[in-house]
Amino acid sequence: MKIIGIYGALDWDANLFDKADTYIHDAGATLFINGIHIRSINEERLTRIKDEGNFPYKSIEYVLGGYAKEEIDVVCYPTSYNDVFQKQLVDGTASRMIKEQFPNAEIWLLSHHLCHAASTVFTSPFNSGSFLTLDGLGSGIWDFASGHTRGGENNSIGYFDKSKHIFRFFRGTGDLGMNSFGEYYCNMSQMIYDDKHKELMQQESKLKPNVVENLQFAQNFDVTPKEGKIMGLSAYGKLLEGQGPPTCISTLFPTSHFGIDRWEFGMPEVHFYDYEMLYNNLKGTVEDKAYYVQYWFEKSLEYLIHELKKDYLEEDNCFAGGTFLNVCANTILRPLFRNIHIPPFTNDSGIHFGAAAWGAYRSKETIELPHNIALLGKSYDDFVPEEKNCKHYDNFDDLCEFLAKELDDNKIVGWFQGRSEYGPRSLGSRSLLMSPKRSENKDILNDRVKKRETWRPFAGIMLEEKVGEYFDPGFVSPYMLYSQTSITKKLPAITHKDMSCRIQTVNEQQNARMYQLLSKLQPPVLLNTSFNQSGEPIIETPEDAISSFKKMDIDYLVIGNYLLWN
Ligand SMILES: [Fe+2]
Repeated sequence: MKIIGIYGALDWDANLFDKADTYIHDAGATLFINGIHIRSINEERLTRIKDEGNFPYKSIEYVLGGYAKEEIDVVCYPTSYNDVFQKQLVDGTASRMIKEQFPNAEIWLLSHHLCHAASTVFTSPFNSGSFLTLDGLGSGIWDFASGHTRGGENNSIGYFDKSKHIFRFFRGTGDLGMNSFGEYYCNMSQMIYDDKHKELMQQESKLKPNVVENLQFAQNFDVTPKEGKIMGLSAYGKLLEGQGPPTCISTLFPTSHFGIDRWEFGMPEVHFYDYEMLYNNLKGTVEDKAYYVQYWFEKSLEYLIHELKKDYLEEDNCFAGGTFLNVCANTILRPLFRNIHIPPFTNDSGIHFGAAAWGAYRSKETIELPHNIALLGKSYDDFVPEEKNCKHYDNFDDLCEFLAKELDDNKIVGWFQGRSEYGPRSLGSRSLLMSPKRSENKDILNDRVKKRETWRPFAGIMLEEKVGEYFDPGFVSPYMLYSQTSITKKLPAITHKDMSCRIQTVNEQQNARMYQLLSKLQPPVLLNTSFNQSGEPIIETPEDAISSFKKMDIDYLVIGNYLLWN
C-alpha cells in the first residue's frame, strides 16, 4: 500500500501568525510504501518560508518522487484546531478537498495527538511501553451549539506492544482547555522576549552598534515562537523568594485535572488564562522572569510525570509534542525512566510522519525506517557544482584532513552531506561548523552569519565514544534533545552560562562523513548550527547551499566531495 501523511491548510492562508482561527504551522508530507519509509519533509524547506503552514504541494511532489498522486491508496491527515478547518471537517469539505488531490485514495482524518504518539512509538527501539504527548493545542473539538471550536486536545497517553499489534491511544483532552504546557510556555516566552528586546534597545548607546543591528535583524525577521530563546535566557536568572507556581500549571498537579478520569469522553472547556496578568505580577529582571517560567515548567512537568508513572507510564516510555523540545526539561525527565525515546521531529514537524506511520500500522504493515531517523529527507549525491572556486577531492579523507586544519584555524565551514534532516534541527547534514575551542567564536559567528541574540548558546556535535570525557553524565544523545554539563574548559563556544551544552553525539553508522571529520579533530567536537540565515528555514538542496553560501560571510562550503570557497 502507498500511504501518504500530509499536513497543512487546505484552502486558506495558514501563515498568518496573528490569526488564531486560521494559523497552522509545520506543513509537510511523508510517504510509506508497504511499510517502508520513503521520505519525509516539511514544506518550509521547499517554499523557504519559515514554519510554512499552507497546503504541502511541494512536499507531496518531493516525497512521491516518480509516483503519481493517483497511485496513493491512503491519505492520513492530522486534523487541526482552528475554526476554518473545523467547519470544513464538520461539513465534509475537508475530505472532498483532499480527495481532489488524491482521487483514488481513502481519506483518514486523524487526531493530532494520535499522530504525535505514533511519531514517537514507531520510531522508538522499544517493542512495548507507554507514551505521553504534550503540546500547546492539537485537534479541535467542534461545538455544534455555538458553531465554533470549543476546545482542543493537548495531551494523550497510552501503551503499545508492537509484537502483539497493540497501540492503545486514549485521547487526551481533560479540562485543560488552553492551559497546556505549550500554551503557558509559548505565551510567557513571547512577553519575555518582547521585554528583553525593549530593554536592549534602550541600552543602545552603551552597546556595540553591530549587536544592536543583530538584535533588530533577529526581531524583524523572526515571527516564530520564542520558547527556545527564553530557555537560553533563563540560565542568566534566578528564582525570587515567594514566587510559587502559576495557577495555570499548578492545576495540572493533581492527576484528576490531567483528565485521566474522562479521557475518552471529556468535552474540554476553554479557559483563556490571563498570561498577561501573570507576567505583569512577576518581579525581578527579565532574566529572572525567564528563569521563573522555565523553573515552574520543569517542576510541573516532573511532578506530573512522577504522578502518571505510578499508574500509567512504563519504564520504557515514548514522549512527543512540542513540549519535549525543551532540552533542559528533558534532561530532568530522563532519570525518571529506564529508557525514554523522543524523536528528532517531536514538535508539529513530525505529525505527518506520525499520521503516515499510523496508517501503515493500521494497515498491518511492518514499519521499516532508515537507521538514522533524523535523516529522512533526500540526498543529492549526483550534484556537480559549476562554480569557479571549486575543487573535487577523489578521497574524502583528504578533504577531511584539509577541513580539520582550516577549522582549527578558526574558519567557518558550510557542510552539505547526504540525506537532509527531518525536524527543526540541523543534525549533521546541513550545518554550519566552527571550532568550539575559542569563546569569541560565538560572537564571530553571530556577527558574520547568524545574527542571533547574544544570550543564546550554540550547540555542539561530537564523537559518541568520547562524550564521557567532556560531558557529565556523558550519555549518548543523537538528536540534540538533552543538555549535559561541560566538565572541561576546552569548549567555551558551546558552553552556556550555567556550563550546560546541547551536545549531539554521532557514531559511524549514524553519519559516516561527520564521524570521519570529527575523528580528525582534537577534541573531536565542533560547534554545529543550522545552515541558514536568521529567519530562514534550514537549506534543503545543493542549490540552496550555494546561493546561501554566496550571500553568507563564511569561508568554505563542502558539498559531497567538493570544496567551494568564496
Ligand atoms: Fe502538536
